[in-house]
Amino acid sequence: MSGSAEALRDRRSLVALDGVDGARIGAWLDRAEVFLGGADAPGTDFEDAPPLAGRIVAHLFLEDSTRTRLSFEVATMRLGGRVIAATAAGSSVSKGESLLDTARNLAAMGVDAIVVRTAASGGAAQVAQRLDVPVVNGGDGRHEHPTQALLDLLTLRRAMGSLEGVRVGIVGDIANSRVARSDVHALLAVGAEPVLIGPPTLVPGELRGLGASSGGPPIAIEHDFDQVLPSLGAVIMLRMQRERAAADAVAADYPKGYRLSRERAAKMRDRAPILHPGPVNRGFEIEPEVADDPNRSLVLRQVGHGVAVRMAVLEWLLKSGTESTPRSG
Ligand code: NCD
Repeated sequence: MSGSAEALRDRRSLVALDGVDGARIGAWLDRAEVFLGGADAPGTDFEDAPPLAGRIVAHLFLEDSTRTRLSFEVATMRLGGRVIAATAAGSSVSKGESLLDTARNLAAMGVDAIVVRTAASGGAAQVAQRLDVPVVNGGDGRHEHPTQALLDLLTLRRAMGSLEGVRVGIVGDIANSRVARSDVHALLAVGAEPVLIGPPTLVPGELRGLGASSGGPPIAIEHDFDQVLPSLGAVIMLRMQRERAAADAVAADYPKGYRLSRERAAKMRDRAPILHPGPVNRGFEIEPEVADDPNRSLVLRQVGHGVAVRMAVLEWLLKSGTESTPRSG
């Protein structure tokens, strides 16, 4: 999927991070920092009219979601806008109406932006290309999940400072993960070194070419988690995407080789951050004690940061003229 040259073509949609440069990503993260005001979750009010006052953002979530959907909602509300939501159950999608037709109807109602989540890789780009309404991709199949990668980057940047040259392990079901794809593009754009880790069935060799569109070198792939652990500056653990046909045969053996246990976490550098996009399968890809370790796990901080980056993206998407100044954090 050719991603983001298209995503940024008219500067009004965010479909993918493939092809988005480090400066643009840095600008979103810097704006998110302003919304955070030093805290882990934003609580902003504005000196003048909030940027989304009078605006309506439509959520078209045709796949289940907790964090992404609700944090887009909180972000819209914090910016003074309002949300309408369509999900597969309870809309005419259950009668067979397509993503595009449903989006067309939302656009006809005059909504100001649409956040799309769909099982179809490329679905968000299709809506962005065909309709004259700003679109944010909230996760499309195995393709991309750009705002998740932005919040991952913000979380890493806040914990570690510059990410230049930092080896960040992305561990698990990479083949089926839109989070991994967006993370790779975001990490490359800011000069970090993504390392894809997992069994060969979930991390096939062709993924080495993931950074090719930005002219980058082949992405490192490692199948031996224990061997690579001490070299990592941070890890992003992933969930097995059973709904996207991750093989059960692989799943049975998976924890032995790839679960982030206390022993494995201890082999990493001191205080190397541990991230997970959620939902977490406690005990499967990560031990509960590691997921809950307040010194290492940034899982809930990621969630707070997700609101801030979605505020930054929505504001950028709908901005007319000047930026409003938050009164406080
Ligand atoms: C991810 C997703 O849906 O792509 N979750 C999320 O948005 N926080 C990851 C997953 O479902 O495993």
